[in-house]
Amino acid sequence: MTENQQRLCAPESLHSQTGIPRRDFLRLGWTALAGVAVVEAGVVSVGFFLPRLSEGEFGGVFKCGAVDKFPNGSVTPFNEGRFYLVRTQDGGFLALYRKCTHLGCAVPWDQTKQQFICPCHASVFDQNGDVLNAPAPRPLDLFQVNLVGDQVQVDTSKQTRRDRFDPTQIVYPT
Ligand code: FES
Repeated sequence: MTENQQRLCAPESLHSQTGIPRRDFLRLGWTALAGVAVVEAGVVSVGFFLPRLSEGEFGGVFKCGAVDKFPNGSVTPFNEGRFYLVRTQDGGFLALYRKCTHLGCAVPWDQTKQQFICPCHASVFDQNGDVLNAPAPRPLDLFQVNLVGDQVQVDTSKQTRRDRFDPTQIVYPT
């Protein structure tokens, strides 16, 4: 066998295949594996700490009950959902986020005065959530009301800001 034939038959080293010495190649492999493990652990941790939203929790969908359960002109608090379900005098629905649009205090409903009155700086809102008295700069935010058959559902995953009350914001049963 000539010297050239011997060279062709000899197993090639990693060094000659990749230009990287074998020890460095292995170290690179272990580093890559460790990196994958760290990323995987991070993904699992993030999943653990993210809120798990389910039905009936703030951030999820609330099944409020049948339309007939709410008389016209009523305001019903859903404390766990942080909203009020308003049934307007003409039978429509609004879901008002209870968070004051001034500095975020929880705003209670005053049944006697038929107003939402903020305990922090005395902003006043009417039954539609519109501002009657500053410093609140805008009406109470809305949550989406969905009427599924005769059932009222409120989706608290996203609130809608508004500059003023508009009747088109009311959701009516069909
Ligand atoms: S937080 Fe409601 S008026 Fe200031």
